[in-house]
Amino acid sequence: MTAELVCFEPSCRARFAIDAIIYNCTKCGGLLETIYSGDHPPTESLKKTWRERRMSNEPLDQSGVWRYREMIPFLADHKNVITLREGNTPLLESCLAAEYGGLRNIQFKHQGFNPTGSFKDNGMTCGVAQARALGMRRVACVSTGNTSASMAAYAAAGGLEPIIFIPHGNISYGKLAQALEYGARTIQVEANFDQILALVRELAEKLGIYLLNSINPFRIEGQKSIVIEMMDQRDWNPPDWIVLPGGNLGNTSAFGKALRELLAWGLIAKTPRLAVIQAAGAAPFCDFMQTRTGFVPVGHPETLATAIKIGDPVSWPKALREVEASSGVVEKVTEQEIADAKAQIGRAGIGCEPASAATLAGIRKLTAGGVIHRDADVVAVLTGNVLKDPDYIYRYHTDQLQQPDGTPIRATFGNRPEVMPNDPAAIARALG
Ligand code: F0G
Repeated sequence: MTAELVCFEPSCRARFAIDAIIYNCTKCGGLLETIYSGDHPPTESLKKTWRERRMSNEPLDQSGVWRYREMIPFLADHKNVITLREGNTPLLESCLAAEYGGLRNIQFKHQGFNPTGSFKDNGMTCGVAQARALGMRRVACVSTGNTSASMAAYAAAGGLEPIIFIPHGNISYGKLAQALEYGARTIQVEANFDQILALVRELAEKLGIYLLNSINPFRIEGQKSIVIEMMDQRDWNPPDWIVLPGGNLGNTSAFGKALRELLAWGLIAKTPRLAVIQAAGAAPFCDFMQTRTGFVPVGHPETLATAIKIGDPVSWPKALREVEASSGVVEKVTEQEIADAKAQIGRAGIGCEPASAATLAGIRKLTAGGVIHRDADVVAVLTGNVLKDPDYIYRYHTDQLQQPDGTPIRATFGNRPEVMPNDPAAIARALG
């Protein structure tokens, strides 16, 4: 198959070589996507090949991204691929969480099981492979924490020089620590995510640094594998709904593209509906979908779910197309709803970071509102690992968590640690 970069705007559709170092259409400024032409391999043989690769010891086959390489065929060869065995994340069931969400059953596709603890690894292995194929030495991203942790790891493993830009004081220590440990040059800027993204785009062009934010279409290609692997794990039976958190909306774009391609290749027979959940203090996409009166960025996004604290999501036009193509919905949830849903996911023995819990909070709201039926087959995508933000967890359970404006968040499902004297009798009495 041959690959090209194509402008996503229907009125433009300008085409560019796959090795062009551009992030937007040079004619109209639109977002770019990777488009493939030519015949795809027969569906049944693909399914068989992908299953057989699970038994293989070849690094490419062991990757939960590159195992599906026929669906991401943008590389001329695979010598530039760096795999940390990303993907391969489980589908987990939980009666407790289903009940909380108002459902009979639920499955969580837990991307927190990735090498750096988030879904970004699925995309980063592709972005870094393309950077190496293009002969780029330095790579950069602005991040709310997970992209930077992931880029730092893959760039380091691939012998590139990672430079990350993060909003000063606004990312969790777990994520910052990862970037430092993987040796990234780390620049904390006194601005928010949206402002820094504008800055980094300018710098990348000036300094010849390859940009690995989700505006990079090769990251989106890799994130498609989250949905491809999910369908493989479900024996190609699509659920009724796929629920995911929305920040910069790269993942929403990737999921929609994956679903359209899976359908076109005959790998699934129907498209699940996408439900995108935003935090109420950073919900420009939700507000736009509900009013449809022009897209208005949020100037000062606020949420303790720092991963999705984004007011001006770059990929909203793509996300709009994908939500509409899947007859999807967009919803927003409060800080209290996120915190309580997160504690429930924890109680289920699963755990996730705050942004991921927006999914279950959103499901609870959508079932209560009759949008999602109690009997629906629902997969929620947990985007990050529970250990990404331990400070949030400790504060919640000890009743110290506060909303950005200082309003307390109730520890509805709090679990306080108990201090006891070094006295077996006293401890036995307490536990008796
Ligand atoms: N969940 C987590 C844990 C994230 O880190 C992000 C995004 C999202 C959800 C939202 O995904 O942007 O594709 O809509 N984190 C980015 C970062 C922005 O820099 O790590 P999206």
